[in-house]
Amino acid sequence: MKCIKWKGNHIEIIDQTKLPGLLEWIECNDVKTLGEAIKRLSVRGAPALGIAAGMGMALASILSEAKCLDDLKKELSSVRDYIAGTRPTAVNLFWALDRMMEIVNEHEGDIESLRNKLEAEALKIDRENKEMCMSVGDHGAELVKEGWNILTHCNAGFLATGDYGTAIGVIRSAHKQKKNIHVYVDETRPLLQGSRLTAWELKQDKIPYTLIADNMAGYLMKQGKIDMVVVGADRITAEGDVANKIGTYSLAVLANYHGIPFYPAAPFSTIDMSIKSGNDIVIEERNHKELVYFQGIQSAPLDSDVYNPAFDVTPHNLVTAIITEKGVLYPPFDKALEEMMGENQGL
Ligand code: MRU
Repeated sequence: MKCIKWKGNHIEIIDQTKLPGLLEWIECNDVKTLGEAIKRLSVRGAPALGIAAGMGMALASILSEAKCLDDLKKELSSVRDYIAGTRPTAVNLFWALDRMMEIVNEHEGDIESLRNKLEAEALKIDRENKEMCMSVGDHGAELVKEGWNILTHCNAGFLATGDYGTAIGVIRSAHKQKKNIHVYVDETRPLLQGSRLTAWELKQDKIPYTLIADNMAGYLMKQGKIDMVVVGADRITAEGDVANKIGTYSLAVLANYHGIPFYPAAPFSTIDMSIKSGNDIVIEERNHKELVYFQGIQSAPLDSDVYNPAFDVTPHNLVTAIITEKGVLYPPFDKALEEMMGENQGL
């Protein structure tokens, strides 16, 4: 199943804020509608943000009324800045925008052929994502043993990647291989991507799961109920530090304490070789209302002082291995990533 579709002159996305109660599609007929959808998490998850960014650039080129190539290029450059300003942490968004802007900057033909190239590139990003996720899933499934209980956090399924999923890709592949797995799904406060989205996806695929609140993970680990933690990632640095949904770091610390393997699963588009340390990753801070209200109902004094970081960073020494579409990378991650990047040059 897909969560984002290119329709030639508009983009359709599943409104993830309405799940699991309603499966509704939003028509994005302009870039502003798409940008607003990204900001309020109607479309979300690192690879899906990359697809949305690519399609947004293609849409902007089609809607533009520019009469000459220079004007179109200027317009697309400001659309790039607008989309880049929607959410700061997931590097896939910037990676896709860079791919699109490279085409814009190098183009020398007419306006129409630039539009065609951008549309083709956006569709390529979408296609590649699915292939990468299936590969991530298959590599990750090799780590999963018969009958394992897997804990996952947030949503790294088809809703977050366009198709198949990364962390859920691992789970899907292991399930397809009949490994008799069971998944513990973290609720993922404050916006409940685990209970609203991951549980919904697993239910669609009839993959056995149990929902838990975030603060239960440690107790389950102590009871020996978790064999492996697998999560997605929003940005992985050159040293292997991993930014992902807030709460991931706590899970990694707990997993380390209990001797449970902790695996981020992500395509190479999530790796940012320009940053060494996770301390340099910009962490999005979201509106205080996400904590003062719970699903629209006031849940704290309205004038509470609120801190609401959307992501945290797990240092590489807590990561057992990183599951990618090219294989599973083991420490030292700086060497493994550099080698893998080198091998992929020119692909
Ligand atoms: O704020 P969100 O819902 O966009 O956060 C998403 C996550 O943290 C995911 O785990 C991550 O993007 C990986 S998705 C394959």
